[in-house]
Amino acid sequence: MAKLYVVGIGPGGRENMTLKALKAIEESEVLVGYSFYIELLGDLVKAKEVIKTGMRGELERCKAAIESARAGKTTAIVSTGDSGLYGMAGPIHEMAEGVEIEVVPGISSAFSAAAELGAPIMHDFCTISLSDLLTPWETIESRLEMASKADFVIALYNPKSKTRTTQIERAFEIIREHKADSTPVGIVKNSGRFGKAVSTSTLGDTDFEDIDMMTVVIVGNKETYFKDGNIVTPRGYSI
Ligand SMILES: C[S@@+](CC[C@H](N)C(=O)[O-])C[C@H]1O[C@@H](n2cnc3c(N)ncnc32)[C@H](O)[C@@H]1O
Repeated sequence: MAKLYVVGIGPGGRENMTLKALKAIEESEVLVGYSFYIELLGDLVKAKEVIKTGMRGELERCKAAIESARAGKTTAIVSTGDSGLYGMAGPIHEMAEGVEIEVVPGISSAFSAAAELGAPIMHDFCTISLSDLLTPWETIESRLEMASKADFVIALYNPKSKTRTTQIERAFEIIREHKADSTPVGIVKNSGRFGKAVSTSTLGDTDFEDIDMMTVVIVGNKETYFKDGNIVTPRGYSI
């Protein structure tokens, strides 16, 4: 039985890809992915059979990857960041029958962005996707409220797209009900890859203009502070 790898390629640059991800891709005869993610792989794609689709083609890609592995070809389906977070690992496991699956973890964009911002996570945190394509908006609002109330550091994924433009502002309104306006915020676009743009602000003073679908936003907890242009969340050591 041929193997189906579900590979998290990290935020995009080769240096942030794990050796295991690299090996799985090299070993695969067939690569399946969203066109932009396939582009990020550069020359790793050479001499491979490639199946790529556009946005919203997730299930189509999963189906093609499963069929390819069932046909006896070692196949890798790729996600950015980690494939087990808003990626392909879930639907592949839900859909596949009679294939050997191996999920290869990757550096999620929250961690890549955190490294570029300093150390904003450090303690208990959560990720919340603002995309209401697959999750009802009421559920997202409720998670934003609970996470803010519990003072988690929050990493906001899918903050905006061409059609979803207002969610990020509403998310900030909810978070501001429970966190101080002075709470540090890190905004990272194209983390770990070409076009990287890192900026910081505070919860009460964030400009949403530059936030787009290639951006992850990290909101601190009540201990988070700025130091030399970086964002730091203390772990609790007496320093
Ligand atoms: C469908 S989710 C995929 C998340 C991915 N599996 C991960 O672990 O990072 C897409 C969202 O992830 C975030 N994202 C993915 N790659 C990014 C990068 N290189 N820089 C900033 N944000 C990124 C953005 O918020 C984007 O809208």
